[in-house]
Amino acid sequence: MRAIAIDPISPPVTLDRVSKVFSGRRALDAVSLTIEPGEFVAVVGRSGAGKTTLLRCLTGSVPVTDGSIRFGDGDLAGLSGRGLREHRARVGMIYQQFNLVKRLRVIDNVLIGRLPHLRGWARSASVARFFPHAERDIAARCLEHVGLSERAWQRTDTLSGGEQQRVAIAKILAQEPRIILGDEPVASLDLANGAMVMETLRHVASSAGVTVITTLHHVDYARRYADRVVGFRQGRLVFNGKAVELTDRAVVDILGESRPSDAAPAPTIAAEPRWAVS
Ligand SMILES: Nc1ncnc2c1ncn2[C@@H]1O[C@H](COP(=O)(O)OP(=O)(O)O)[C@@H](O)[C@H]1O
Ligand SMILES: [Mg+2]
Repeated sequence: MRAIAIDPISPPVTLDRVSKVFSGRRALDAVSLTIEPGEFVAVVGRSGAGKTTLLRCLTGSVPVTDGSIRFGDGDLAGLSGRGLREHRARVGMIYQQFNLVKRLRVIDNVLIGRLPHLRGWARSASVARFFPHAERDIAARCLEHVGLSERAWQRTDTLSGGEQQRVAIAKILAQEPRIILGDEPVASLDLANGAMVMETLRHVASSAGVTVITTLHHVDYARRYADRVVGFRQGRLVFNGKAVELTDRAVVDILGESRPSDAAPAPTIAAEPRWAVS
């Protein structure tokens, strides 16, 4: 295993009867779940099932109404001020739209992920993009980890959508995340690019030991790439099992009778990406 940033191992994450109510509407309903370090977890469910709310509760950006969320021994509800800011700085979030500065070079976007770790002189100097060598080294290793070393000096907007999403993953690795959360990170990608991004996330979880929890529109992506799938229906956890246990029957239980676009197959790609490190 190739080490990337300094302390990337995730703590176990435990949700104990978590509910979130928005103006009388229950977006999450008594959800209990434990996620082990380094697991790659796919969250599936129809639109409005509570998937994004689950992620927002994990980042601490919305407080839970009932129940508790623990990272290791630490209860998120006990965090405020600096503690909450520190927690958020260690949660890596990837989105459908990649959240990169398109006109910057790839390496500079990754270096932005280092900003929370810089202090004093280094932080103000970094505004002029003079990052210390040690920081550039970390950014380069993160790019290597997602298989994009050779793209480091290109303008970000010259990369394909899938490559840009992998740059976003490298930027998050540079953040030294305790956990990586994805909100539909492959929804705007074609199947081949989506597959590469899913493969990258699986690689990050298994080789760097960073827990990845991502919502997915395509059930077949979840089946093919995730270790575990959790299914939500109207805020309730209705499936929690290994990806291989996600039978068609279970999919119907989660999504209801119709499987409109969720039935689209994910592409077949090589089991190991060419840039896999061992
Ligand atoms: N900030 C909010 N205010 C009010 N209702 C919300 C808010 N965020 C989400 N909801 C509601 O919570 C439910 C779950 O939403 P969400 O978590 O976004 O679902 P999903 O990501 O599965 O599509 C929906 O009914 C949605 O309208
Ligand atoms: Mg959502």
